[in-house]
Parts: sequence; structure tokens; C-alpha cells
Amino acid sequence: MATARTGKLFAYISIQNIIGTFAQAAFWLQYCVTDRPATRYWDLSSKSSKLSSSIGGRGNVMADDAPVEHARRNPNIIITGTPGTGKTTHCEALAARIAAAADGTGPESDAALAELRHIAVNDVVRDGNCHDGWDAAYQSWLVDEDKLLDALEPDMTSARGGCIVDWHACDLFPASWVDLVVVLTADTEPLYDRLALRNYPEAKMQENIDAEIMQVLLAEAHDAYEPEIVVELASNTPDDMEANVDRIAAWVTQWRKDRGV
Ligand SMILES: Nc1ncnc2c1ncn2[C@@H]1O[C@H](COP(=O)(O)OP(=O)(O)OP(=O)(O)O)[C@@H](O)[C@H]1O
Ligand SMILES: [Mg+2]
Repeated sequence: MATARTGKLFAYISIQNIIGTFAQAAFWLQYCVTDRPATRYWDLSSKSSKLSSSIGGRGNVMADDAPVEHARRNPNIIITGTPGTGKTTHCEALAARIAAAADGTGPESDAALAELRHIAVNDVVRDGNCHDGWDAAYQSWLVDEDKLLDALEPDMTSARGGCIVDWHACDLFPASWVDLVVVLTADTEPLYDRLALRNYPEAKMQENIDAEIMQVLLAEAHDAYEPEIVVELASNTPDDMEANVDRIAAWVTQWRKDRGV
């Protein structure tokens, strides 16, 4: 049973690697020729390209000497990546440290985390009706990005800041809202196993794995934000996750220290 499953997985991964090599070449060719990412995946509506050209992207990054539009006490961090790479798991681990910092039971070194908050965008989409309905075949909401941005704007532009945004897209957020973009990545085998546990439809499973092989999210992050605020972190094992969360917490502490907060 286990051998048959392992054989199936390796066959799947081998075919994926071959497809991935060609798809990656095609993707980068298209990317180089058109200077924009390939087709969006998952539950993003076609509005995204319009939005990213109007409010996202490099055009929004302020010059060094420009006045700061949104002075924040805490950095806003986008945690993004292909579905299954571990965004929510990382955010929940961070949220536990935030809660401990806020009620004084955490270590002194985590004190800077006290005002942060986890924003699960999937919940905002569902509870705030930021969608045009449910796609049953794809098992996803059809996200209305205009409504989503309106729903997030008060928190993202507040003086408190400190939003840890958990979502599988990043480039819709204006650069002025964002201080760090963490792109989580996973190898094909653990990602396959994690998605298989969710019983995703085959098409959705395949698109997600292809998107990870083609590094779609990383390309979107690099296209929309300055390179120094985009960081790629591997998320294959629990040790990776622990190290990543430590690293993000240390980065927050340093960010506040640099600004004398
Ligand atoms: N670094 C890791 N090591 C081991 N298991 C992990 C790791 N990251 C995530 N997982 C596991 O992978 C599964 C998917 O993780 P999670 O739900 O956090 O992904 P996600 O990126 O939030 O997905 P989605 O975009 O669909 O919300 C969970 O069962 C989680 O325990
Ligand atoms: Mg999640």
C-alpha cells in the first residue's frame, strides 16, 4: 500500500518536474516578454491585474526624501506563498508569541511583538463578504479585491500597524502599506502530501504545485515591492517553521528599535 502510494507520488513528481521545466521556461519567457506575471491561480478574480497596475507595484514606493504617508509604530508584514506552504501555521505560531508578549508571560526578547495581530484574509473575505460568490468546482471564493482592500485599509494604514497578513497573494497591497513580504516556499514532495490531505480537486492540486514549481508568488512579490523588503523562507519542516518565526520576531524587534519605538 505504502509502496504503491510512494510509487504514485514519485511518478507524479517526475511528471511534474518534466512539466515544470517546460512550464517554467514558458513562464519566464512570457514574464520577460510582457513584464507581468502569468495567469493568476486559485481564487483571484481578473481584477487583480487592473488593481496591481493602479495601486500596487514600484510606482508606489516613496522616494527616500518623501514625507512618510503612514507612520506606524509596528511593521505590517505580508506572509504569502502557495497554498499549503504554511502561512497560517507560521501566523498562528507568531500569534501565540504575540499573545504571550501582550499578557506579559512571554520572554523579554519578544516584548516588541505585543501590538501585532494576525489578519487571516480568508476570514476577512468570507466574513466581510469581499467576494462574488463561491466557486463549487474550485472550492474557492471569487475574491472581490476592491472590497477586500477597503476592508483591510483601516488596520493596514493605522498608526498601530502591526498587521501580519496571511494570504496567498501579495501584490494587490499598496507598497506604502507593507514593510516586509515573507514568501514561504516548500519542496514538491511535502507540498504534495499536505495538499493531498485536503482532498483538493485534481485540477486545483496540480495548479498549486505548478505555481510553486514556477515560483509564481516569489515573482509577484519581487515585481511589486523593493527587493530589500522581500524575503524567501523555506517551510519544509517544523524546524524550518521555528527558525522562520524566530527570524520574523527578531526582524520586528529590530524594525522598532531602528525607529526608536
Ligand atoms: N514548515 C512546516 N513543516 C511541517 N508541516 C508544515 C509546515 N508548514 C505547514 N505545515 C503543515 O502543512 C499544512 C498546511 O499548512 P497551512 O494551513 O499553514 O498552509 P497555508 O499556506 O496557510 O495554506 P492555505 O493557503 O491553503 O491557507 C498543515 O497541516 C501544517 O501543519
Ligand atoms: Mg492558510
